[in-house]
Amino acid sequence: MSTADGVNLGRRRFLTATATVVGGVGAAFVAVPFLKSWSPSERAQAAGAPVEADISKLDAGQIMTVEWRGKPVWVVRRTQAMLDALPTLDGMLRDPKSLEPQQPAFATNEYRSIKPEVLVLVGICTHLGCSPTFRPDLAPADLGPEWKGGFFCPCHGSRFDLAGRVFQGVPAPLNLEVPPYKFLSDTRVLVGVSAEAA
Ligand code: FES
Repeated sequence: MSTADGVNLGRRRFLTATATVVGGVGAAFVAVPFLKSWSPSERAQAAGAPVEADISKLDAGQIMTVEWRGKPVWVVRRTQAMLDALPTLDGMLRDPKSLEPQQPAFATNEYRSIKPEVLVLVGICTHLGCSPTFRPDLAPADLGPEWKGGFFCPCHGSRFDLAGRVFQGVPAPLNLEVPPYKFLSDTRVLVGVSAEAA
């Protein structure tokens, strides 16, 4: 065996060992998503199966999030003060009457919802898809004295009121989307099935 052969043989052994280790690591990484992909509930949800939200513990003024079709869906229990503030904002909004088809027909009303107090929205900004922040506080320093609660998108500063209606002068072109949903009871909301189809 020449010196060169010895080197080559050694290198070959090294490569074989490396390949085995990499193969082992690769197999471990593959196994996790493979198992995950076969979880029936996750697969069904990714395909768009309806998702239930239990709002029994959602107090007035609070928000909760469920995941539907890989997107966050917010459920907010609005206070009477929040509802009363909505019509006072119409003059500052781009589509105050929800003329754009950003909601099912059942939510084409002043509250953009089935029950006035329960708001259901897809939590994705209509500009470039960031998830806005829930800002129910009144007139905070960073949002100004006219802020009556709503959603603020940190990516490029879009603002939405507590019905998901977009303000004028921000990058987002459309109101936040209202998904199809219906009430199974006073405390259970099913997201992904339209009340119209019930
Ligand atoms: S993604 Fe929300 S403002 Fe740009």
